[in-house]
Amino acid sequence: MSNRNITHLSIIMDGNGRWANHQSMPRAFGHRAGIKSINTIVKACVTRQINELTLFAFSSENWNRPEYEVKFLLTLFEESINKYIEELHHNNIKIRFIGDHSVFNYQLVNSINNAEELTRHNAGLKLNFAINYGGQWEIINAFNKFISSNPGSTKITIEDFEKNLSLNHSKPDLLIRTGGEQRLSNFMLWQHAYTELYFTKCLWPDFNEKELDLAIKYFQNRNRKYGTINSENKLKKDV
Ligand code: IPE
Ligand code: IPE
Ligand code: MG
Repeated sequence: MSNRNITHLSIIMDGNGRWANHQSMPRAFGHRAGIKSINTIVKACVTRQINELTLFAFSSENWNRPEYEVKFLLTLFEESINKYIEELHHNNIKIRFIGDHSVFNYQLVNSINNAEELTRHNAGLKLNFAINYGGQWEIINAFNKFISSNPGSTKITIEDFEKNLSLNHSKPDLLIRTGGEQRLSNFMLWQHAYTELYFTKCLWPDFNEKELDLAIKYFQNRNRKYGTINSENKLKKDV
């Protein structure tokens, strides 16, 4: 399927635990299967000429899960970055991680830094992973960054504010949430202001190219009005 419209796609990859439960397997089995879906969808985005893909992998609220699951997930991220980084680099993909990484262990921070450094100059798909990310955290963080670089300032503009966000160069055109829930779960609250929303019951480990194409088709039939009465409008700063 061709893609003319989606520049930036974001995904809340939900449903790993239920997918595993349905097979009477431990939740960790679902998280491992979820990594395979990431691999499939990254490649699919490249062939569909999507410029940017932002994946929600671990929320600031996911720390409230049992300690063994949190530990498992963080180790899985580190392992997976190390496993796939050469292939991603070879495919000209530029990787970024957003979120609060100050609490991660040395090994995970090291893998994150290496991946970002290695792929820094790549000009292909921009691939962003939100790990220990929360939209409210990002907004407060941006505000605090502004205050510390503009001491004494009593006003902030939208433009100044956006400069301090982790992702400030583009906003998602389409958000996909798998797993059947219809909520943002604190994912990019600012950047999703005018994003089209697509919810599917498909669990993340089952999400594949066919499912992605259904979402793209849905998006292509949307009429993006941005508050106007005409279609085909685009927010000036949303390009
Ligand atoms: C998404 O799957 C992965 C993470 C949040 C890390 P879940 O683990 O939330 O799976 P469900 O929603 O319990 O099925
Ligand atoms: C959202 O999924 C976070 C990620 C996919 C990383 P959750 O499973 O944590 O969201 P809730 O708890 O159902 O809102
Ligand atoms: Mg979930």
